[in-house]
Amino acid sequence: MKGLNLSAISSSMRLVLLKPTYATSRPARFLHQLIQQQQQQQLQLQQQHFQQKRATCGLACGTAMCPGKCKSSRRQLDKTKGLNSAGHKHTGSLAVAQTPATPVVSQRDEDQVLEVRLAQAEDALVIPYMWLRDHCRSERYFNHTTQQKIPDLELLERDLTPQAVRADSKGLSIKWRDGHETDYTYDWLANNFYPGQFARRTKRILWGRKKMESEPLPAVTFEHHMTSEDGLRQSLRNLVKYGFTMVTGAPPTAEGTRQASERISPIQESMYGGLWTVSPAMGNNDTAYTHESLGAHTDNTYLTSPAGIEVFHILEHDGTGGESLLVDGFNAVDTLRRDDPKAFQTLRDTPIPFEYMATAADGKPPYLMKAYSPIFTEHAGTGELLTFRFNAYDRGTMDTVKPQDLPQFYAAYQKISQVISSPASQFWFQLSPGTVLLVDNWRVMHGRSAFTGFRLLSGCYLSRDEWISQARMLEAL
Ligand SMILES: [Fe+2]
Repeated sequence: MKGLNLSAISSSMRLVLLKPTYATSRPARFLHQLIQQQQQQQLQLQQQHFQQKRATCGLACGTAMCPGKCKSSRRQLDKTKGLNSAGHKHTGSLAVAQTPATPVVSQRDEDQVLEVRLAQAEDALVIPYMWLRDHCRSERYFNHTTQQKIPDLELLERDLTPQAVRADSKGLSIKWRDGHETDYTYDWLANNFYPGQFARRTKRILWGRKKMESEPLPAVTFEHHMTSEDGLRQSLRNLVKYGFTMVTGAPPTAEGTRQASERISPIQESMYGGLWTVSPAMGNNDTAYTHESLGAHTDNTYLTSPAGIEVFHILEHDGTGGESLLVDGFNAVDTLRRDDPKAFQTLRDTPIPFEYMATAADGKPPYLMKAYSPIFTEHAGTGELLTFRFNAYDRGTMDTVKPQDLPQFYAAYQKISQVISSPASQFWFQLSPGTVLLVDNWRVMHGRSAFTGFRLLSGCYLSRDEWISQARMLEAL
């Protein structure tokens, strides 16, 4: 067991780790305690430093005012040289005694784990040797330019009991039995060892009509969204939090749609093209191109990986109706989980088909898209909701559910349909030119009421991986 210097904890880590959403995971508590101790120690060091300077200067300036507070010309301290204005040097030692730091590191070979513990803390990081060796970030096993691993093909065959473990102010160093050495910093370990990697900075807020009607809508002005990193971060946080955001005051043109969208990620090309416009005058057979109402749904359910964000921007409307509808799919699933656990389980465990057919037109080939998925899926690591896919228009021929299981499936499907169509779930509002709506298509459903007159809508898709990457980079996730 060895003492560690807390000054190894970086200031950037401090900013990240003190965020409240980290407070529940074990690494977060560990680091929170570590930082508290660091702050206390820094304060003690400052006090010792000042007292020692005052006490050890043997010349005239060694008064209570020396060194920093004396304002007389004779006693002004030349901080860069360690001299006062009279030219004498402090005769006492100005060295600051290093206060021993408190985290201790211990090998527990019987369990094949390394324990990193604060002296007065309940929590410790208990990290398997296997994980530590697998996450060696030396150049032999990691390409720091591409952030890719260099596979260790003999990992499972090695004796992974460390030959020696050293702990110093920069972190840990393990000398392995094959002679290789690996260094780790404490902040890297705490941020990357399970379950730190799943912690969210921005917590999701599930919502229904009441919440959306009683609180300010998630929105950022076009100027803030386009010109400020903080504005873009706010847009991304809204998407993570609520599953949608609005950009207000945008140019009421397709170019405005493009600019607001591309600020987040490149527009995703699909069989519909890139940036598209929709109006009833276009003669397309798809329901979206008519005056009819559209029930709440997500798009691209028939694709293996549906678009991540769908963008909507009404450019013109000279009639009535055409209100927009949003429904939080994750909130609907959460409601089902509480009210009817059996239906929740059935939908989670039953993949169903979604399909879409398009005939050849305008030089484009015909399409027959088909994908199978449960209506919702959960993250394999965290168990939190990952995808929501619901489209009554594109649900395919039910060729995957065993006949004897059909009644149970249809009952569960009816339940979620009822939750979705419930007034408590549905948030209706009127979009107008200049307001760009961005919706997380893996979570929130959209729809519209029937309308009259000419209505021109512009929009596009953004890739899931692209926008999540952007959110991750800006610490909005
Ligand atoms: Fe749609």
